[in-house]
Amino acid sequence: MSTEGWTVLCATAEVLPGETHVAWFDDVALVVINFDGMFYALEDRCTHDEFELSAGPFDPGTGQIECVLHGARFDVRSGEAMCAPAYEPVRKYPLKVEDGVIYVRDPDA
Ligand code: FES
Repeated sequence: MSTEGWTVLCATAEVLPGETHVAWFDDVALVVINFDGMFYALEDRCTHDEFELSAGPFDPGTGQIECVLHGARFDVRSGEAMCAPAYEPVRKYPLKVEDGVIYVRDPDA
């Protein structure tokens, strides 16, 4: 698989099943989630009031991460807001995994 256009984000070993990990892509903090062995990355910023999503709990049963500030929840597979007070989706970043390494690329590239 080509790594052209992709940037190393972190190792899969850094994101245990059902857990989250913060990694940086350029100057953007991403929260990386291991949900059932699949990896997802969202911008680490709630769309309600910009709080760090990584500070909140991830529920491996529902696949949702909760913002601790006011309780908004987001589906980590899509970034979609699942309940108030957030209505806008969190920006999702494409990932790929190769040899234990998670690569990320710009969603707009
Ligand atoms: S800042 Fe996340 S719910 Fe308000």
